[in-house]
Amino acid sequence: MEPPSAPPRRGHVPWQGLLLTVSLVTLWNPPATAQLTMESVPPNAVEGKDVLLLVHNLPQDAFGYNWYRGDKVDSSYRIVGYVTNTVEQRLGPAYSGRETIHPNATLLFQNVSLKDAVYYTLLIVHRSLKNDLVTGQFHVYQLSHLQALQPENSAGP
Ligand SMILES: *[C@@H]1O[C@H](CO)[C@@H](O)[C@H](O)[C@H]1NC(C)=O
Ligand SMILES: *[C@@H]1O[C@H](CO)[C@@H](O)[C@H](O)[C@H]1NC(C)=O
Repeated sequence: MEPPSAPPRRGHVPWQGLLLTVSLVTLWNPPATAQLTMESVPPNAVEGKDVLLLVHNLPQDAFGYNWYRGDKVDSSYRIVGYVTNTVEQRLGPAYSGRETIHPNATLLFQNVSLKDAVYYTLLIVHRSLKNDLVTGQFHVYQLSHLQALQPENSAGP
């Protein structure tokens, strides 16, 4: 059944299709700002591992940032904030003890669980008091699921 010309990708193909649903969704980008984007590394994390939410093309004049759990700015879901000129971090009500904000606004998430696979929103406050928002998401999978999803009899695409 297996053609000899099949690409050597076995071991990854069966579950990869399931993981393709949504890796990262950028919901809104103001047109005046050049390509502010969020990237989750990795987009699909295994439970217990770390995830980086990278921020690309961060504006240079940022006064500060706030990270929120969820797809909108809601102070009761604030994780952590950062004020650039004082290098000051401000923990919010949604801080779980596993998040670290870097000066470039990147958020490190340690020991992720299934419950962490939600949207995250970054609010950037400029010195001009103009705001930018970027929203993204990562997925979390249990390792046991991944192993169970690699049956030997899986039909190729
Ligand atoms: C931001 O800084 C962190 C820690 O130094 C680094 O891992 C990450 O790649 C940086 N993000 C970008 C977008 O350069
Ligand atoms: C990771 O989180 C789980 C709960 O989700 C906890 O039981 C475990 O102790 C944590 N591991 C570390 C190294 O913090």
